[in-house]
Amino acid sequence: MPKFVIEQSEPLRGEVEISGSKNAVLPIMAATLLTDDVCEINDVPHLTDVLVMCDILRSMGAKVNEDWKTHSLIIDNSGLNTSEAPSELVKKMRASFFIMGPLLARTGRASIALPGGCSIGNRPIDLHNKGLRQLGAVIRIEQGKVDAMIEQPKGALVYLDFPSVGATENIMMAATLATGVTTIENAAEEPEIVDLANFLNKMGAKIKGAGTDTIKIEGVSKLHGTRHAVIPDRIETGTFMIAAAITRGDILIKNAVPDHVRPMIAKLMECGVIVNDEVDGLRVRGDIRNLVATDIKTLPYPGFPTDMQSLFMSFLTTVEGTSTVIETVFENRFMHAAELSRMGANIEVNGRKATIPGNVYQLKGARVASTDLRGGAALVLAGLVAEGKTEVTEIYHIERGYEDFAYKLQSLGAKITREDD
Ligand code: UD1
Repeated sequence: MPKFVIEQSEPLRGEVEISGSKNAVLPIMAATLLTDDVCEINDVPHLTDVLVMCDILRSMGAKVNEDWKTHSLIIDNSGLNTSEAPSELVKKMRASFFIMGPLLARTGRASIALPGGCSIGNRPIDLHNKGLRQLGAVIRIEQGKVDAMIEQPKGALVYLDFPSVGATENIMMAATLATGVTTIENAAEEPEIVDLANFLNKMGAKIKGAGTDTIKIEGVSKLHGTRHAVIPDRIETGTFMIAAAITRGDILIKNAVPDHVRPMIAKLMECGVIVNDEVDGLRVRGDIRNLVATDIKTLPYPGFPTDMQSLFMSFLTTVEGTSTVIETVFENRFMHAAELSRMGANIEVNGRKATIPGNVYQLKGARVASTDLRGGAALVLAGLVAEGKTEVTEIYHIERGYEDFAYKLQSLGAKITREDD
């Protein structure tokens, strides 16, 4: 099993290029199931989650051509020959449930293994199913499988009890081929929803309001192939912002979209980090002022993203003063706190609230385990400033969502290597 070995490093300096967004490309790949035509997706990040989605599509009869020199995928779903996704692949990745909406709309049937719980919380699919049922689907959950049938999706008013990203995407994709108009109220507003809507509209869908809490989808009878470049990854952007802040470095983050990372900019600036939107990218400097504590509460977009919470927590262990972090989106997303405490961070977790006593010199290298994708990356960043050597194990979590993580950090001066354990 590979691991990252990290030595305390000098402040990171230089330029880094952000890859395409994991959370945008996965639903976009699923959305190609809505047409027999060929679709080309550009700026695709080379990640294990993307490779799993390629395999899921192939296993159902798609031709998927991967070109990692150009970071492009060409997907041809004309040979789609089943409505059943293979359980062993689906179970590898929760995002495989994105194929439910498009498969159902295109073939009238979808049979997919129930995406299990995961380390960050229970993660049910009731909102996905509620919305799809409102479009006319009959859904049964039996023996760990979700079986859905629909004659023809019909436009409906869908109110989401919580603005779930995945449910908004699944319902939006299914509604593109419905008769009549579907309105999703209390929809998620994340930039990845807007990117998916842009892709679907290029395929001939009629979607308005993506990026607001009310999305209207006027159904069409057919969608066609298209070409689309995925938006840059805002969580990878945020990760390198934290890398600059925690090491007191100076990083120019190229290909960042400042509008997508407003909460990170605001919170880092509250701590004293300098963030400038320059012509070439977002420049983040942690080397000018003394950095101080702040309080964070995760919320659906445009609030502070839950995916950045663990990374920000690593940074907060290094500032002056005590910070608090409240996690409102997932029920169990503080596992990294125990690992950080093994590095000397002394974080106190009480339900959904974590209290972080900051202290510039407290982190000490240790052998710690990635608990989930972002939690793992948070430990790597902590390792950069911890005294001595840190080993981060279980890095398959990290490689699900970061392209060339060690290489990009090395190019900024980090002492990190990927080794076999
Ligand atoms: C997506 C992102 C993930 C991010 C999350 C929240 C992808 C591939 N993943 O996950 O990185 O952390 O958004 O920004 O895009 N919920 C229900 N019922 C449902 C669906 C969700 O109760 O049917 C709850 C979940 O348990 C969770 C909350 O809603 O507490 C948010 O989940 P959701 O927005 O659906 O996250 P995902 O789409 O799974």
